Amino acid sequence: MKLAIRYYSKFGHSAQMAEVVGEVAGVKPASVDTPLTEEVDILFIGAGVFLGKVNGRIKEFARSLDPKKVKKVVLFGSSALIESPVAQMRKIFEELGFTVAEESFTCRGAMGPVHSGHPDASDLQALREFAKALVH
Ligand SMILES: Cc1cc2nc3c(=O)[nH]c(=O)nc-3n(C[C@H](O)[C@H](O)[C@H](O)COP(=O)(O)O)c2cc1C
Repeated sequence: MKLAIRYYSKFGHSAQMAEVVGEVAGVKPASVDTPLTEEVDILFIGAGVFLGKVNGRIKEFARSLDPKKVKKVVLFGSSALIESPVAQMRKIFEELGFTVAEESFTCRGAMGPVHSGHPDASDLQALREFAKALVH
């Protein structure tokens, strides 16, 4: 199975989460600044939110892709206040014609003292299990 991982990470949380997915998937994650040109079975995409929104770079990256070259998009992310960044990302990818997996992963991501320390070790372990189930 051909896999790729991209993220936008303002505070390093999605980057940390992408590393965990990368360990499981056996591929090196990269930020959305790294173009994806090859065909993949699963593209993992991760982000947090800032002022309630997923960064616009996620949409730009989605637009740079050919939906025919990506069999399935799997979303992950973290947030402190809103339930999850996944709904925003799902909308972006689905509107562009991608197949987005029903399953996704969300955990808390710190905003100062709010959910301080997250994503923590148990969040990352849960993410590891989530990714394993998809790629193995
Ligand atoms: C300055 C700042 C602003 C944030 N604003 C929001 C917000 O508006 N809503 C929310 O749910 N989470 C908010 N968060 C929490 C982030 O979404 C969370 O830390 C997430 O893990 C960041 O992921 P990233 O480092 O990959 O960008 C904020 C965090 C910080 C530090």
